[in-house]
Amino acid sequence: MSVPTRPRGPLAPSSQPAPTRRSVLGAAAALAALPLLARPAPAAEGPFTLTAAPAVARLRAGTGAPEVPVLAYNGRIPGPELRFRQGDTARIRFTNGLDAPTTVHWHGLRVPNAMDGVPHISHPPIQPGAGFDYEFALPDAGTFWYHPHADSARQLGRGLAGAFVVEEAEPPPVDRDLLWLLSDRRTGETGALKDDFGDPMDATHAGRLGALTTINGQVRESVAVRSGERLRLRLVNAANARIYALGFPGLAPLVIALDGQPVSPHAPEGGRLLLAPGQRADLILDIGGGPDARFPVTDSFPDRPAVPLTELVCAAGQPLRAAPPVGPVSLPANPLPSLDLASAVRQEVVLEGGMHGERAVDPMEQPGGPFWWLNGVAAMSHDVEPLLLARRGQTVVFSFVNRSEWWHPMHLHGFPFRVLSRGGLPVERVEWRDTELLPPHGRAEVAFVAAEAGAWMLHCHVLEHQETGMMAVLRVV
Ligand code: C2O
Ligand code: CU
Repeated sequence: MSVPTRPRGPLAPSSQPAPTRRSVLGAAAALAALPLLARPAPAAEGPFTLTAAPAVARLRAGTGAPEVPVLAYNGRIPGPELRFRQGDTARIRFTNGLDAPTTVHWHGLRVPNAMDGVPHISHPPIQPGAGFDYEFALPDAGTFWYHPHADSARQLGRGLAGAFVVEEAEPPPVDRDLLWLLSDRRTGETGALKDDFGDPMDATHAGRLGALTTINGQVRESVAVRSGERLRLRLVNAANARIYALGFPGLAPLVIALDGQPVSPHAPEGGRLLLAPGQRADLILDIGGGPDARFPVTDSFPDRPAVPLTELVCAAGQPLRAAPPVGPVSLPANPLPSLDLASAVRQEVVLEGGMHGERAVDPMEQPGGPFWWLNGVAAMSHDVEPLLLARRGQTVVFSFVNRSEWWHPMHLHGFPFRVLSRGGLPVERVEWRDTELLPPHGRAEVAFVAAEAGAWMLHCHVLEHQETGMMAVLRVV
């Protein structure tokens, strides 16, 4: 296939401060009134080219850090941040430069079934040296991401993942729109990624965890901010298995979107933002404090003392403005189909397996699995009997019942769902998601419109659980 080279404008990192604000620095009277700048959305271009191939990367900043072998999109981890505008059509020419088959799944985006990147279901696996042209409309604005859906634990665990941002026609004005793609890495003594993918101990427990948390591909001791600035921070959890409980001591973040879907702005419950693999959150962060102020960003999952992941460090010099900006931060709703709960089809989805508990497994006895079941079925490939058959346009309620001792972020392809209840209690606000985190022995009810025909995956986004049984298919006819 011919791959035209295109300017990479929309793929450039979005972390540059808007330049025009410099002209107003220094005048104390002007500071309080400093206007916020809406970031102009990029014009849609394309097709964009995306190539998965072996590469090398530094997992720590600095030239002294070792370069280690990884798998990368366009030679870097994470892959390029694909940015579009709501209503655009995305055209992405993908080439497989790996030595194994792969696919690209557009996590959270409402795409036609044939573009969903599930091997054998959407299209055959893309063989080494071959390509695939993905093309789909973008009805929803929000923070999404892309990753392989073949040999996922290994391909994601080695670096294949990137963010996919669809901008609102009129985004709420902020000084900077920052995106952090979080992953954790398990490394050996040389600093290289450990090759123990598929370890049955990981798969029967919490999945593959690594000690290094990288932000946009690297461990970062600090991130530079300006005192007084308003940030939109888009968070993506691209880890194989690690769940974060993020804290921002000293700051008062407001959650404005979850899994790409707008939510009424609110402080994270209990002061911590739970972010499981597959999930995203958009925050508004007003940076208080004076010059040289520092604000750690911490993780305390599940209930341990908070450890810093990085630190926001204010630059020396004048604050950007004296008081936090005023102005709306809420996002317009996406055009999701409306639920018809009165005539909904209800389906229980029972999660079982893993070490300990009711349907406990022994990794020593059956090291290849299966280890996990959804309604009694362990899917060891994408080719599985449907868990539910639904008519197109029908509202479906999934009632998740976790009978295991482990946490599971359950992800549904194709259709964002509204969370109706958690632990038997109705949720406080209207919350649409594509990945719902179930605590050990937890329950949740979610509802969605099965709006598109085809076979759609439902699976745990702890990739080691997914690959050892925790996957099912919803068929819409
Ligand atoms: Cu992010 Cu089926 O996956
Ligand atoms: Cu799981």
